[in-house]
Amino acid sequence: MKVYLETMGCQMNRLDSELIAGRLQSAGYEMVSQQRRADVILYNTCSVRRHAEDKVFSRLGADAQRKKSRRILVGVLGCMAQRLGDELFRRFPVVDLLCGPGQLSRLPDLIADASAGRRATALDPGRGSDPDRSAQERLEAMDRSRDPRNMPHPSQAFVRVMRGCDRFCTYCIVPYVRGPEHSRPPEAIEEEVRRLLAAGRSEITLLGQTVNRYRHEAPGRTTRFSDLLARLSPLPGLRRLRFVTSHPLDFGRDLLEAIRDLPNVCPYIHAPAQSGSDAVLKRMNRGYTRAQYDELVSAAKEIVPDVVLAGDFIAGFPGERDEDHAASMDLIRRTQYKNSFLFKYSHREGTLAARRYADDVPEAMKRRRHAELLQAQNEASLTHHRSYVGRTMEVLVAGPSRKAQAPLSESTVQLQGRTRGDHIVVFDGPGSLLGAYVNVRIRDADALTLFADPPTRAIAPT
Ligand code: SAH
Ligand code: SF4
Ligand code: F3S
Repeated sequence: MKVYLETMGCQMNRLDSELIAGRLQSAGYEMVSQQRRADVILYNTCSVRRHAEDKVFSRLGADAQRKKSRRILVGVLGCMAQRLGDELFRRFPVVDLLCGPGQLSRLPDLIADASAGRRATALDPGRGSDPDRSAQERLEAMDRSRDPRNMPHPSQAFVRVMRGCDRFCTYCIVPYVRGPEHSRPPEAIEEEVRRLLAAGRSEITLLGQTVNRYRHEAPGRTTRFSDLLARLSPLPGLRRLRFVTSHPLDFGRDLLEAIRDLPNVCPYIHAPAQSGSDAVLKRMNRGYTRAQYDELVSAAKEIVPDVVLAGDFIAGFPGERDEDHAASMDLIRRTQYKNSFLFKYSHREGTLAARRYADDVPEAMKRRRHAELLQAQNEASLTHHRSYVGRTMEVLVAGPSRKAQAPLSESTVQLQGRTRGDHIVVFDGPGSLLGAYVNVRIRDADALTLFADPPTRAIAPT
């Protein structure tokens, strides 16, 4: 059977999809990139904003049409399956199977059940009920069993260090759909990283919803996130070690110093502020004040040379006044983030905010504030990127640039890659550089991209 898998949402979902594809392939399924060729259509979904869910609803509408003319199985996986459960079957009879993010290891069985005509469901127990330990073990086994040959990028790989989230920011659905926070054992993480490195990966990104809250307790030994970085950093072949996403509350000095002192840990910190206003931060239950966030930014800039910061902001959280919005604008301007992910507040049923507050900022005002944040961030991004003009930067070449339609000549294409600080760099060079690290001189910049001269020589991967 041929399977088409579409992934929405965050990097955690991208990693899950990679593991799903591996698992299905070893069970004899063929993964295809065209939906029309598939016997099984799977969506790995996101519930974080309404827009993400609407996209899936419209896909399911189209699948219902398709199913009239041919036999297909349709499955909803991930966060939306977990959030909506049986309601999805009721609203969309086209759906044959549901699988929550904690049950993905059961997918081959679910597909088999669905092919036999039975509606198949595997969801995690709700918060407050006993955790499904066997599911945790199966997930752990799935992470451990990944096959680097299935991986999309020749040099990079994601590695999960934590599952779930216990922070309960009031706007956020993640703690409900991804379940309780759980840090993986450091030896399992190390083993996985070693295997990826042995298969030729050189840039590893550690993933967690609040990755820097990582903490593993074993008899006689506690591993903090900074300890984990120190443990992984010396592994042979590990050229770059990254991590996302960080919570601003969990940046101890130990972590900032680890970023400074461990040579392959990249000085890129994605630490979402969400708002610049104390009143809003409190209602969001973020756990820090504006002054504490500002302190983190100063400490990061002071301790980590060339630190690159990225943020997230939500425009139009319930009760957000003009002065709260002005405080977010001010925070963007002062922090000089490389980039920020900016969202309009989306009221999510089931979250604390949906229970406590009215979604009272009118849509037009959300849109205007979002556009203003975007404008402020664009200005900050331009200043940030321009400050690199004239410098020589190390770039890991990821592939042809998005605009590269045809080779510039027989041997030259427009290439794209990332710096240690996660800047996008575009330059002309031989296609053979894919997956290599090169030093290039930055000659120009816009708000999103650094433009570099062609490289003079490639650096062999270590
Ligand atoms: N775990 C990560 C990211 C969680 S979701 C973290 O804590 O940083 C990614 C981003 O989506 C959040 O940082 C937040 O900015 C945004 N987001 C989450 N819920 C939202 C909602 N209900 N409406 C709008 N944006 C939301
Ligand atoms: Fe959501 Fe907050 Fe957890 Fe991030 S830290 S996943 S925003 S609840
Ligand atoms: Fe979305 Fe689930 Fe990730 S809700 S942001 S896909 S954890």
